[in-house]
Amino acid sequence: MLKVSVVILALINFTVLALDPYDPYIDIPFKRVKTSAQRIESFGYPAETHEVETEDGYLLNMFRIPYSPNLDNAKSPRPAVLIQHGLFSCSDCFLLNGPDNALAYNYADAGYDVWLGNARGNIYSRNHTKMSTKHPYYWAFSWHEIGAYDLPAMIDYILATTGEKAVHYVGHSQGCTTFFVMGATRPEYNDKIKTAHMLAPPIFMGNTTFDVFISLATVMGSPGLGAELMQNQVFLPMNPVIQRLLDMACSNDPHFFSFCKIVGRWWSEDVGNLNVTLLPQVAETHPAGISTNQGIHFMQSYVSNEFRQYDWGPKKNRARYGTDVPPSYDITKITSKMYLYSGLADESANVKDIARLPELLPNLQELYEIENETWGHLDFIFATQVREIINDKVIAISKLHDNL
Ligand SMILES: *[C@@H]1O[C@H](CO)[C@@H](O)[C@H](O)[C@H]1NC(C)=O
Ligand SMILES: *[C@@H]1O[C@H](CO)[C@@H](O)[C@H](O)[C@H]1NC(C)=O
Ligand SMILES: *[C@@H]1O[C@H](CO)[C@@H](O)[C@H](O)[C@H]1NC(C)=O
Ligand SMILES: *[C@@H]1O[C@H](CO)[C@@H](O)[C@H](O)[C@H]1NC(C)=O
Repeated sequence: MLKVSVVILALINFTVLALDPYDPYIDIPFKRVKTSAQRIESFGYPAETHEVETEDGYLLNMFRIPYSPNLDNAKSPRPAVLIQHGLFSCSDCFLLNGPDNALAYNYADAGYDVWLGNARGNIYSRNHTKMSTKHPYYWAFSWHEIGAYDLPAMIDYILATTGEKAVHYVGHSQGCTTFFVMGATRPEYNDKIKTAHMLAPPIFMGNTTFDVFISLATVMGSPGLGAELMQNQVFLPMNPVIQRLLDMACSNDPHFFSFCKIVGRWWSEDVGNLNVTLLPQVAETHPAGISTNQGIHFMQSYVSNEFRQYDWGPKKNRARYGTDVPPSYDITKITSKMYLYSGLADESANVKDIARLPELLPNLQELYEIENETWGHLDFIFATQVREIINDKVIAISKLHDNL
């Protein structure tokens, strides 16, 4: 039954791909959907768009709120922060709560130079110096490459542009996984980080209880036919059909709301404290595009209960890594000042799995468990109380570090 559903999923995905008529670049289907820069400007904040090239030729777009109109601090020194989104998401997720409650604006209003990253493959980062998105190798990446190449390129770009020596870093979900990959595989980057805030970090995943994810993991979480069918392709790209469906389902029309919740369940389980007025905007900006390998790599973390590189199967692993089993990431090399945030109702980044991290992290400052039994995976960015519970704390720690 499950095998059949994976074959069906693969067929749907191939069909969607075959029909995808959009340019590889920012292929936002409707003109009325704003880019991150337009969203920022619509609230009277200054916005910039920057293109960053990675070592392996991917071209990423970052958005920047260089200063705050409320502080009029364009000419004063401003420390920089890089904020990095999770799976299926993009820079928009840190803006949708609006100027009073979204992390990006809160940081700008606290005197920061705010940079929003976009991982390769999402709607804002679909260009490459040599390959088109139809090239068979374009989508052959997982969060390993995002951590090993995209984050370092974005950090170096920020430092070169601002003249700062280090940045603060905030990641949600996969934005944490990629930070761990960077710290372990490119340890020289640890010195370029002032403080690192990991909101709902999926690192070890053996205790995940997210049911959709677990069922898929039984077929795709280990090398074999399921993974072979799905790997190295874009998963559900932004597409007029899908977007139209989501727009309709997640509009404020109550008739469709339960459908929206079902679709939402594919992204994450828990919508307990979600700001529901956000849903139409979430639907118009998500899913922002991933390679299937990113999802498969997370499923492998669940099956192996280890944090290690992508498993291509013994033969390809030997060619690539020199061992049958992929090498584990050595997270004891992550010397950045780190803060972990965990939610009791988070089914993807389970508290039990996060509890394995402290003894391995040499410079952990705090493991902060949100004191609310209903706090879930998406609440870290979309909860109605996200400002008081998350943003204010993250920013207070950053300011303390900068003596602001
Ligand atoms: C994509 O990248 C190529 C190669 O750098 C460049 O020539 C092209 O103008 C870019 N396209 C867009 C839409 O930025
Ligand atoms: C679950 O969490 C516990 C406690 O941190 C850990 O010992 C165990 O390895 C994890 N994974 C599984 C599959 O139990
Ligand atoms: C947890 O969050 C829910 C939903 O916002 C709220 O109703 C409840 O009062 C919170 N519980 C505590 C202990 O803060
Ligand atoms: C909820 O989302 C709306 C729409 O983006 C936003 O205007 C509002 O400030 C948000 N509320 C909270 C408490 O985050």
